[in-house]
Amino acid sequence: MVPIAGKQLVILVLWLALSTIVVIAFSWVVSSTKRPVPVGDVQPGGYRLRRLWGWFYGTLLVAAFAVTLWTVPYAWAQGSTGKPALVVHVYAHQFAFTMPKKLPSGTRIEFLVTSLDVNHDMGIYSPQGELLGQVQAMPDYTNVFFFTFPKPGRYVIRCLELCGAGHSYMFQPLQVYAPAPASTLGGRSA
Ligand code: CUA
Repeated sequence: MVPIAGKQLVILVLWLALSTIVVIAFSWVVSSTKRPVPVGDVQPGGYRLRRLWGWFYGTLLVAAFAVTLWTVPYAWAQGSTGKPALVVHVYAHQFAFTMPKKLPSGTRIEFLVTSLDVNHDMGIYSPQGELLGQVQAMPDYTNVFFFTFPKPGRYVIRCLELCGAGHSYMFQPLQVYAPAPASTLGGRSA
């Protein structure tokens, strides 16, 4: 089993903290509703709270959208229409990935991902076990996924969609090496 570390630990602690707040809030609501109160007494306050709530979440939604839109892994969102340095085909099938076993780091790679049988999912895990990116592998359809390996190391590709009895064994190591000079890469140059 991969130890929990880094960002995943932060997410786990955040999730636990938020869950605790939710449980406390619900407990408070349950205990505060034991005594009946006429609807007319609470309705105006309820509507006021609902309006504030709507504005709060509306603003939060628009802000989150504006901030994160630029980080989604699509070329149009990244403002990049340039060609990737390397195009890699990935064929998922029960229960393995047919794809290169070695790829360069620091190189913008265009993964063309499809499946030869059922739905799979290609998840890219760092040497530390962090999920860095994922894309569906679907039959009769090719998903385009741009990814740059941040540094050399032993990465792992795992299937992230239940695809049959061998799903949990559907993974493969991927050696990511420091790239050779661009002129000897052999792929299309950006
Ligand atoms: Cu392929 Cu799960």
